[in-house]
Amino acid sequence: MKVGFVGWRGMVGSVLMQRMREEQDFARIEPVFFTTSNPGGKGPDVGKEVPPLKDALDLDALKAMDAIVTCQGGDYTKDVYPRLRAAGWQGYWIDAASTLRMQDEAVIILDPVNRKVIELALARGVKTYVGGNCTVSLMLMAIGGLIEQGLVEWISPMTYQAASGAGARNMRELIQQMGAIHQEVKALLDDPASAILEIDRKVTDLMRSERYPLDAWPVPLAGSLIPWIDVQLETGQSREEWKAQVECNKILGRADHPIPIDGLCVRIGAMRCHSQALTIKLTRDVPLADIHGIIASHNAWVKVVPNDREATMRELTPAAVSGTLSVPVGRLRKLSMGPQYLSAFTVGDQLLWGAAEPLRRMVRILLE
Ligand code: HSE
Repeated sequence: MKVGFVGWRGMVGSVLMQRMREEQDFARIEPVFFTTSNPGGKGPDVGKEVPPLKDALDLDALKAMDAIVTCQGGDYTKDVYPRLRAAGWQGYWIDAASTLRMQDEAVIILDPVNRKVIELALARGVKTYVGGNCTVSLMLMAIGGLIEQGLVEWISPMTYQAASGAGARNMRELIQQMGAIHQEVKALLDDPASAILEIDRKVTDLMRSERYPLDAWPVPLAGSLIPWIDVQLETGQSREEWKAQVECNKILGRADHPIPIDGLCVRIGAMRCHSQALTIKLTRDVPLADIHGIIASHNAWVKVVPNDREATMRELTPAAVSGTLSVPVGRLRKLSMGPQYLSAFTVGDQLLWGAAEPLRRMVRILLE
């Protein structure tokens, strides 16, 4: 199978390359690398010979592929995908961008959760497969078991989203902001006799000043948070919040009888792990021990963390999870509203299950 890769040098693309090397995926395909800037250049090291880079806007070169995997972003998809299809190309388009997600011709891929939906689509001849929004995918990896068992009446996810979701520049600027804060008060910090309120005032003054590094972010993130992600919709939701219900239900193949899912999405100063606090209304009172079992047995990556202070602080944080495929879920307890109200807290790597991993797994599914 000839598989073309576009946008493999960016952040999500680089994580995809790394995972595909780790899993020896390149041994099973004929990879062809495309570029928007350097046609004819040398392809990446994937453990075998690859042809020189091809032009990502050359429709004839793209049309020669059996499948195209793109992490190039929404503008590229908007430009190239319709032209390729209009030219009669029948190959598989596997995309990380959100552009095509909600179109009827596209299936959102998260195979540990919706393998059956994907298989039915393949049998129907569907050729367009798109990775889901990162918080959506990570939530479903965490509590897919409860949904599969018909135990979820509704979910309110409150997110704590990492800088990586906004892009590489934003991650860099977050660290610059952290550094600027430290620089500002370093002398005072080094003096054990200095007053904490003075340190605090200097930090706050810096965050409100013109000197604070604000280029990628609209307002300070380090030392603060941003309670809005993506554009504003007429419903009062942010676009990120809107995605939760529509994408989850599309992934689950139940857009005609959707589970209500709605909450607030907030950016925090984590690097690449999104966290989410979930309030779940269960369809019936299920004992917590059963809930643990149902969640844990759903897929190979979810991990139930007991609702214990030490285990939670050790295992249920971005610092612990970053760079791994593990999706821990903890803080599982019944809320005081009643036995059908369950809380949960889950953490997952936004670049792995939230972006790159479902794409490489889709390539593997095509090879089966
Ligand atoms: N929209 C997400 C975020 C990342 O900003 O965190 C992409 O799914």
